[in-house]
Amino acid sequence: GSGAAGLSCALAARGARVALVTKTRFGEGGNSPWAQGGMAAAVGDGDSPADHARDTVEAGAGLCRDEAVSLLTSSAPAHVRRLLALGTRFDRTTGGLLALGREAAHGPPRILHANGDGTGRELVRALAAAVRAAAHVTVHDETEVERLCLAGGRVLGAWTRSRGGIRTLMLAPAVVLATGGCGQLYHHTTNPPEATGDGVALAARAGALLADLEFVQFHPTALAVGADPLPLVTEALRGAGATLVDEQGRRFVLAAHPDGELAPRDAVARAAWRHAEGGHRVLLDARAAVGEAFPDRFPAVFDACRQHGLDPRRQPIPVTPAAHYHMGGVATDLRGRTSIPGLWACGEVASTGVHGANRLASNSLLEALVFGAEVAGDIRRIAPAGPVPAALAPPVPPAEWAIDEGVSAAVLDADLAEIRRTMWDQVGLERTAVGLEGAVGRLADLEPASCSRRARDLALLGRLVATAAFTRQ
Ligand code: SIN
Repeated sequence: GSGAAGLSCALAARGARVALVTKTRFGEGGNSPWAQGGMAAAVGDGDSPADHARDTVEAGAGLCRDEAVSLLTSSAPAHVRRLLALGTRFDRTTGGLLALGREAAHGPPRILHANGDGTGRELVRALAAAVRAAAHVTVHDETEVERLCLAGGRVLGAWTRSRGGIRTLMLAPAVVLATGGCGQLYHHTTNPPEATGDGVALAARAGALLADLEFVQFHPTALAVGADPLPLVTEALRGAGATLVDEQGRRFVLAAHPDGELAPRDAVARAAWRHAEGGHRVLLDARAAVGEAFPDRFPAVFDACRQHGLDPRRQPIPVTPAAHYHMGGVATDLRGRTSIPGLWACGEVASTGVHGANRLASNSLLEALVFGAEVAGDIRRIAPAGPVPAALAPPVPPAEWAIDEGVSAAVLDADLAEIRRTMWDQVGLERTAVGLEGAVGRLADLEPASCSRRARDLALLGRLVATAAFTRQ
């Protein structure tokens, strides 16, 4: 993967030889470049990693793993310095200090941002430039991993397929999944088309332990314009004072949570969902709080609004919850080790327990930076030097592993649409036992019936998420 986690890991693995495999064009794919709000770090006056940790655990509904939270929040200032040393251009105050924004469920303002709401793009620009210049990294872009190569209970490498259709077995003493999220499991998502949960499916098929799969985060404010994916309307707008209102201009989130629009993301998303289910429109009103400054402060959101004929300076804009981030994933320890020797995971694909049941806003770029570097450190310490003997690897991969060849786009789209609808309707913001059981059954039928690997993987992942949700009491 070539999002923030993969880039952070590859860079920090200096001293090893790294092959970075990514299915998109290098530096352009995944959720990282789309991240708007920013990156949380306790670098402001009066703030501390302990306060950041407390907010993280509270947003995570008490289900976070404390050691992971402590590692994340105490490492944050060092990773800010690392990014600055790489030339990351964070926004600054007129006095030249790092400008810190406010987001929901954070005590003080502690969100670093770049180009207003273009933080992810700037981070990826700086990291990708450093990776391009790093002699120890070779990039294989527009190349997909078909399967992990396992022998003797160890991961020995991965079968890959390039855009030109060439299949290659890459052998390596250490394989890192940094494949990002799975927002495409859902009918409404803020995630790009490539966020299809490939890493979790690869790990599941290899028999790795998975954790907390039922914890899917729904962002309260995607722009409700019928696009796929839906454009994100950053949380930083609510941090700046924008309010959620209905068709009468009435605020409704305060009735659900005393912190109103600045409550943890799950509470705000559920309030918006229930209000819409009650027959109301849900709108974000930034006219008073941001007004004429909108294009300068939030250029990406402003552009998205204008593309859909909306002007957030003059009107409340329609918003809806949408799948945004997966807290669950491939179970790892704090060094990113999975349950299978030879396999590590970092970033959104991993489940370290750092986010509990609900990730605190702007902790995901930070997680990618921190855990990417932790994985690299562990690999440098323990992975054997030198190549894996080819004789250990199994021979030619079976045909059913192949990434979709000869499947018509219409068939693929129809399969994916049904999976995504099932997940949205039955495994979404509010779930019932009956609905979850129905979803598990439907997805179990869809998986073998689908003629594309993409749809089979997504159906598998959906079934696992629904099963985990059913099991969680
Ligand atoms: C946002 O800008 O609202 C998204 C930030 C995040 O997902 O942490």
